Amino acid sequence: MEDKKILRFLCNGKEEMVLVRPDDRLLDVLRTGLGLTGTKEGCGIGECGACTVLLDGRAVNACLVPACLVEGRQVMTIEGLSEDPRLHPLQEAFIRHHALQCGFCTPGLLMSAEALLREKPHPTRREVQQAIAGNLCRCTGYEQVIAAILEVAEENGGAAAAPL
Ligand code: FES
Ligand code: FES
Repeated sequence: MEDKKILRFLCNGKEEMVLVRPDDRLLDVLRTGLGLTGTKEGCGIGECGACTVLLDGRAVNACLVPACLVEGRQVMTIEGLSEDPRLHPLQEAFIRHHALQCGFCTPGLLMSAEALLREKPHPTRREVQQAIAGNLCRCTGYEQVIAAILEVAEENGGAAAAPL
């Protein structure tokens, strides 16, 4: 279609070129254009956080980002988090703490946690809570998720001592 344009950006460290329509969202480009289905679509309106990815290192809802805005920028999805065959420390901690059940929210939670730990390697519990406030989970109740993230922060050299 003549209104499609070529979008170029870095995804998980790899240069990608995808044909996009003007109304495509980053989420469409990732899931349909690149087949990176680890990023989930829940609500599609920025409420659930299931589609969270990193854009230039910051957590964003891919369902709210027009694809054209990522031209020349860096995106990281859940597929880029682990170094195959090794899981990322956050993924290992989520498993150790049983921080997932159905797992639909998990990629988004992990990406929010990764964005937090990049910015603040030693967050307080409150900062962890705030970082994942936009990620809705219907299964786990969040305590295990918070414990997993704090454990990784501790492995980074010690979480902030204040419990709240
Ligand atoms: S699918 Fe993007 S926030 Fe819910
Ligand atoms: S583990 Fe099921 S929604 Fe979070």
